[in-house]
Amino acid sequence: TTPTPQWRPVYHFTPEKNWTNDPNGLVYVNGVYHLYNQQNPFENKWGHMSWGHATSADLIHWKHLPVAIPEIMGSDTTWRFSGSAVLDKDNTSGWCKNGNCLVAIYTGHQQNPAKESQFVAYSNDGGITFTNYEKNPVIDLEKHDFRDPNVWWYAPGKYWLMTVVLPTEHKALFYRSPDLKSWTLLSEFGPQGYTGSNWECPFLIRLPVEGTKNEKKWVLVISAAGGRGVFEQYFVGDFDGRAFKNDNPKDTVLTLDYGDTYYAAIPWNNLPEGRHTYIGWMIPNPQPTFPWRGQMSIPRDLSLRQTPNGLRLIQRPAAVISNQLDELSHGRTLALKNLRIGKKEAALDKNGKIKGNAWWMKATLTVAPGADAGFKIAQEKDAAGRTIHETIVGYDAASRQVYIDRSRTGGDINKDRARQAVTLQAPARELRLEILLDRSSLEVFVNDGEAALTTYIYPVEGADQLSAFSQNGKTVIRQLKLWNLSR
Ligand code: FRU
Repeated sequence: TTPTPQWRPVYHFTPEKNWTNDPNGLVYVNGVYHLYNQQNPFENKWGHMSWGHATSADLIHWKHLPVAIPEIMGSDTTWRFSGSAVLDKDNTSGWCKNGNCLVAIYTGHQQNPAKESQFVAYSNDGGITFTNYEKNPVIDLEKHDFRDPNVWWYAPGKYWLMTVVLPTEHKALFYRSPDLKSWTLLSEFGPQGYTGSNWECPFLIRLPVEGTKNEKKWVLVISAAGGRGVFEQYFVGDFDGRAFKNDNPKDTVLTLDYGDTYYAAIPWNNLPEGRHTYIGWMIPNPQPTFPWRGQMSIPRDLSLRQTPNGLRLIQRPAAVISNQLDELSHGRTLALKNLRIGKKEAALDKNGKIKGNAWWMKATLTVAPGADAGFKIAQEKDAAGRTIHETIVGYDAASRQVYIDRSRTGGDINKDRARQAVTLQAPARELRLEILLDRSSLEVFVNDGEAALTTYIYPVEGADQLSAFSQNGKTVIRQLKLWNLSR
């Protein structure tokens, strides 16, 4: 338990101290983003699950607030598991005393006897404190595993819609309610797709298809860590207010993120029309940090894109954040054009302008067929110029794989997943990489959101150099811009 300030992200959400897992109750009210989170208020490991709370006006700077929904200690200790929050502006619940009234819908995880059921709680002080409904639970199937309700207002039907899972049965259930208290089952979905581990943290969302005028499709996202490692899958299809119909064959498995940490993601409720922003938990794997453990990803905007294989989920860093990069970097940027990279590795920051390992890069590359090229980040070299540590973010044109290679990263990483990769559907003539390094947090977005890889690295002191490389053929960095975001 040595403090690790060198690995504390600068522009990502981390709790001030102690353990966090899933984002909960994401809701946008009057220009403020609320982020509740699965928090252990007492220790740096999972337990005493409560809803932590933070708010932000820009998705970068977070104000940490007191625990909003604490565990109930007692004979049947109830932990507050994951769920969502809605703005009940029309007072459908009858609990609201003002226009900023929030209702949280979450899983009560009772330990004695072990049972999970759905609870509601309301807040009339802007989400700072919540009062639990005295008649909880509002949905009880007498099940050991039944959790993670995701609720929002389904305008066409004029009702609250809940998506919730039976984790061990690999089923998502849909419910409706007029008042957030009485719930009616609409339909069940599953088992379909990946069923090798428990289903958790579902959400249903209607997304625009890029490049079309008004085309929209429904996407059902489900977290499923286990057999395949940390993993989220999604289904594309239709929702008619009652049931979700998968467009693809039952056994199709679509992957949301190709790294080893992205999990339990859910979107913000009540965003302005046309915005679809969500955030995921980056699962400690093992994450040897102190005094906090666990963090959130960069918030991401969601859409769909037509591909030769069908509609696929697109995710890129939220525009709200990308638009702030110039301001956040205070002009500390690095820009270059048409740089040819051959056999010899090229140091990109000879003047040491970007020291600090908290930066954001956008690059466009032309990689020769058969070449393996990209960037070496968090690099440490000895006096003779030999590499001691580095993490590679590369593209192997022969296999069409964009990959993160952590085998020489140093530090305590999940060695089974030292290399993480995504195979692109088509060879990339112009490859676009967006790399977000935030000390120990690493996210790579490929071709404007076609794929994402999210992981952790733990660079040793002084490992903060940046180079470009190209093996077995040449590469041209058409454009590169890097914003230094270290504080
Ligand atoms: C996912 C999860 C949820 C549950 C919560 C408990 O990480 O297991 O299914 O509600 O975490 O902390």
